[in-house]
Amino acid sequence: MGKALVVSVSGKGGVGKTTLVALLLKAILERDNRKDILVVDADPAANLPDVLGVRVEKTVGMVANELKRKIEKGQLPIGVSKSDLLEAWVYSTLLELEDFDMLVMGRTEGEGCYCYVNSILTRILDTLLSNYDLVLMDMEAGLEHLSRRTDKDVDVMVIVTDPSLMGFKTALRIKELAKEVHIEVKRIYIVGNRFPASMEKRLKEWASKKGVEAAGIIPDDPLIAEYNLTGKSLLDLPNNSPAFTSAKEIAKKIGIID
Ligand SMILES: Nc1ncnc2c1ncn2[C@@H]1O[C@H](COP(=O)(O)OP(=O)(O)O)[C@@H](O)[C@H]1O
Ligand SMILES: [Mg+2]
Repeated sequence: MGKALVVSVSGKGGVGKTTLVALLLKAILERDNRKDILVVDADPAANLPDVLGVRVEKTVGMVANELKRKIEKGQLPIGVSKSDLLEAWVYSTLLELEDFDMLVMGRTEGEGCYCYVNSILTRILDTLLSNYDLVLMDMEAGLEHLSRRTDKDVDVMVIVTDPSLMGFKTALRIKELAKEVHIEVKRIYIVGNRFPASMEKRLKEWASKKGVEAAGIIPDDPLIAEYNLTGKSLLDLPNNSPAFTSAKEIAKKIGIID
């Protein structure tokens, strides 16, 4: 089994994480050298499926919670290991689409301590991830994912900010906290979303002062709002849309397309 390149997209709520994941995915799919791609919606609010026009019925959180419930009620069949059962259930939530696979985490935490279930879940997910060439993760808003170590296998961390002080502050905090909790990311980039071209220079200066690399900016693109509103997949944006053109440059910069 190989080792996937794991790319995560994080940032404050509403800055454009999900949008960037969709645009990066589109950039990868546009290339001929098709890789095995897994897209993970790790945000409990889970709207990536909508943005990509994918229907999801079951999440990893739902099956993990089901196992916890069954353990509590003593309803587990005898002779089947919890680990095997959960593994089969997790794989049953995996959506195998034509161009990529998708896993939706949903809400994984129930009440009480289910360290055992959580640790088998981690092992199952580690194995699953290693089946792919590239894993794109749409992270939960804010910082929680760092303390929960959802980021532990991330190679490339992309932090999105909008042109606001709060966005910048959260971005910086994510970078610092990753270090504090010993999450070893190989590369960290910042992306400015909904940035006017005139502010790209300022983003770069800010980034270099804070010791991160700016991977670029994405302009505000009215088509994105329109597609979201009408429920069209962002993968179907025209190839010359300004946001997509910028996202391709970013994909090159962070090394996920040539
Ligand atoms: N570059 C952009 N141009 C226009 N609208 C955007 C852009 N980026 C994000 N949006 C809109 O902003 C909202 C929040 O974006 P989203 O990607 O869902 O943020 P997050 O995942 O960080 O919460 C969405 O309604 C989306 O359509
Ligand atoms: Mg989102």
